[in-house]
Amino acid sequence: MEKKTFYLTTPIYYPSDKLHIGHAYTTVAADALARFKRHQGYDVMFLTGSDEHGQKIERVARQHGVSPQEYVDRIVDGFRHLWQTLDISYDDFIRTTDERHMKAVQQIFQRLYDKGDIYKAEYSGWYCVPCETHWTERQAGEEHVCPDCGRPVELVKEESYFFRLSKYADRWLKFIEENPDFIQPASRRNEMISFVKQGLEDLSVSRTTFDWGIPVPFDPGHVIYVWIDALSNYITVLGYGSEDESKFRHYWPADLHLVGKEIVRFHTVIWPMMLMALDIPLPKKVFGHGWLILDSGKMSKSKGNVVDPLVLVEKYGVDAIRYFLLREIAFGADGLYSEEALIKRINSDLANDLGNLLYRTLTMMGKYYQGQVPAPGKEEDLDRDLKRVAAEAGDKAEAAMERLEISVALEFIWELVKRANKYIDEAAPWTLVKNGESERLATVMYNLAEVLRILAVMLVPYLTHASQAIWEQLGLPGKAADQGWAARKWGLLSPGVQTRRGAPLFPRIEVDKEEKKTVSESVTPKEASEKISIDQFSQVELRVAEVLVAERVEKSRKLLRLEVAIGEERRQILAGIAKSYQPEMLVGKKIVVVANLKPAKLMGMESNGMLLAASIPGEGEEENISVLTVDRDIASGARVR
Ligand code: ME8
Ligand code: MG
Repeated sequence: MEKKTFYLTTPIYYPSDKLHIGHAYTTVAADALARFKRHQGYDVMFLTGSDEHGQKIERVARQHGVSPQEYVDRIVDGFRHLWQTLDISYDDFIRTTDERHMKAVQQIFQRLYDKGDIYKAEYSGWYCVPCETHWTERQAGEEHVCPDCGRPVELVKEESYFFRLSKYADRWLKFIEENPDFIQPASRRNEMISFVKQGLEDLSVSRTTFDWGIPVPFDPGHVIYVWIDALSNYITVLGYGSEDESKFRHYWPADLHLVGKEIVRFHTVIWPMMLMALDIPLPKKVFGHGWLILDSGKMSKSKGNVVDPLVLVEKYGVDAIRYFLLREIAFGADGLYSEEALIKRINSDLANDLGNLLYRTLTMMGKYYQGQVPAPGKEEDLDRDLKRVAAEAGDKAEAAMERLEISVALEFIWELVKRANKYIDEAAPWTLVKNGESERLATVMYNLAEVLRILAVMLVPYLTHASQAIWEQLGLPGKAADQGWAARKWGLLSPGVQTRRGAPLFPRIEVDKEEKKTVSESVTPKEASEKISIDQFSQVELRVAEVLVAERVEKSRKLLRLEVAIGEERRQILAGIAKSYQPEMLVGKKIVVVANLKPAKLMGMESNGMLLAASIPGEGEEENISVLTVDRDIASGARVR
């Protein structure tokens, strides 16, 4: 049977000497999605590239004393090097200076012109050179500055070709109505609808004031201006408008254009309208992700607040950087970058949770079985629970990836990592050894090795090195990446495999003084005079509650609405944990609540009780909340004291 195709793109990047971690974010996320789809068995086409034309490049090249072509060639080498360093598995790399692209763009321009959708007129407006964006009189305002970057704009008046955007507004609105999932997340969709409803001006698509671009085929004094040139890359790379359109027929329409939120408008309005004019089917989905922000605002080269991914990879390794970008930021939202947050992720999730699980397991395997995985014996409840968590983690991670919730997928996988670590403590292999319970010991050790095999399979899209390292330390042949997602099924590990413990996967990073200070301040004990008596404490009624329903509160970034059962009683509790918890992470959990708190109103809703959660104050406060749960299964309603 023919494989199903999946065509996924990143934007093509503007030439820039320093790609920062924000740029890497788009590409790493796209790479994880591409690897996941391949793992599922799709015939994936994953595209990235570079967007090399325009006045800005022409100027910068001149400043460097080189030709634009020499300048971009050098920069593109840098791109390829960075993508290689980050393990970006693109299938093709399109340059807008490629012959294949330039010829096809001329075809596209000609077709639009022949159809009457491109016409010549006088252009007058304001232009921001660094942003390569045109603004109307109204947008530039009285001060004539760029609404995006705040720098002065230039007045330009010239003859230009225009694309009839206005003609396609109604068709577009109808399309959006019929395809509600086309623009994601949904908030960006609403923005675009109101943008189009305001009324569209036709788009200026050629320039006469510079030469570094693709000439208009029938009027070579004009070069084709940025967006028709750039957006077309998604089809020119497939041979659209060339003699061989087989790839285009095979992969188009694209399944997903992944873009930063500032270019959603071009991808969801202009691009679909171009395609409509060309009678080409529209892509299936455009997802606008958020920005990586530093304390000093959005990272951008022109602001100088950039973080170099090459330096970070050198310091912490590719897996750590990939993991941080994918796990720390809810995909779609903006996220704060800080080195402290990165180190925390490495130490807790990678070194402590995952790394230790492998290291502990293989150390015991070495000690008890000379490294050879034993055949499992009879199964107990504890084992069944581990198997259940393994199956559920995979199911949920898969569903999350289908929704493009990459960070949520990783959270689910880590539920298994954590469950397995707890399994070690509960099954206590060292006690089994001492008591001579050899069958039980074999079962436990087999199960741990099997969980690690499953984790190696599940981590393939995210941790390109560690997934393979786990695979190899388990003594398994070939590549984890070649096993397919279905290999996460329990029981495929053959007993007798010879494991080889290696160096710890992720060495702990020494925490610097700054961070220690924050932590120790937050745990400074109270003065003796502030201590309370046992009676005072017993006035607080703490109870175990089971979360039945959890959902976001509309218009609130912080609040989750929970419905909990406390024994027979059902209540609503609002909790300010939405930045740290996806609602589905909480359902079914047993948490601890203050049951006798006076009800309060938040955002017009009643909150009847309060849940207990640990948090570290100071930097990134809301990002770092941990809800208290109970360690064993116990009925809801149980008193906590
Ligand atoms: O926009 N956080 O190219 P580009 C997250 N050539 N993402 C960021 C970011 C940050 N701090 N900074 C940049 C272009 N990006 C056009 C695209 S497509 C036909 C033409 C992301 O080099 C940005 O959102 O300015 C975009 O998705 C990508 O890097 C390339 O940006
Ligand atoms: Mg940009």
